[in-house]
Amino acid sequence: MSKLLIANWKMNPLLSVDAVTLANKIDVNAKKYKSVSVGIAPAFVHIPLIPKPKSVWMGAQDVFWENPNDGGAFTGEVSLDMLRNIGASFVIIGHSERRKNLGETDEMINRKVKMLVKAKFYMVLCVGEPLSIRSKGFAAAKKYVASQLKKDLKGVNNFHKLGVVAYEPIWAIGTGKSDNPELASEMAEYIKKLTGADVLYGGSVTSKNAESFLMKPSINGALVGGASLNAQEFTKIIEIASKV
Ligand code: PGA
Repeated sequence: MSKLLIANWKMNPLLSVDAVTLANKIDVNAKKYKSVSVGIAPAFVHIPLIPKPKSVWMGAQDVFWENPNDGGAFTGEVSLDMLRNIGASFVIIGHSERRKNLGETDEMINRKVKMLVKAKFYMVLCVGEPLSIRSKGFAAAKKYVASQLKKDLKGVNNFHKLGVVAYEPIWAIGTGKSDNPELASEMAEYIKKLTGADVLYGGSVTSKNAESFLMKPSINGALVGGASLNAQEFTKIIEIASKV
């Protein structure tokens, strides 16, 4: 089954010229692997500087929950229409780094989901448990994720048509300690049962461990941070996704 890979560049690279080069390389390389869907999510400021990619989707790492058609008094925020106008076709929401560093709550994320569903815009909704929960056992992690999804998708019926859930255990993000593929697969099945949506795994995915996750039928792809900042490494992951 065809897999989806999303590159989450976070607050990287520093220079826009490097973002353009990285995007171009990934775009050229991805062309060879037509069976894999690939999206890149650069920082807001880099998106309009990157020439329209031919074989990958361009996306953003966040969006504001209001989308007034005549602008609005929301200092520092970026609206969906602004993103559309610069060529974004998907957006990541609810990333744990935003939940933690910016105090983003499930209620805020729910407002974003509702706005995006109304606008029929594709989203990658991130969920995942902290180490303090996982250390209580896998059942506790499932309960935590179910509770996040319940709040994030409150009042939303057709999420599965417009988005995918990225399961990212927080302790696995950027730590080099990826989840056990069997458990990630079990969580993906559970999330699918709850939401009907496809599920990506995220958390220290590299070319070394990608196959172990992507070979699982319940895992529809990956959200890749650090390893997506190196075109060669990310291309290896695309190649692996094309073969599973
Ligand atoms: P990582 O990040 O691949 O560097 O662990 C994943 C993410 O935060 O989406």
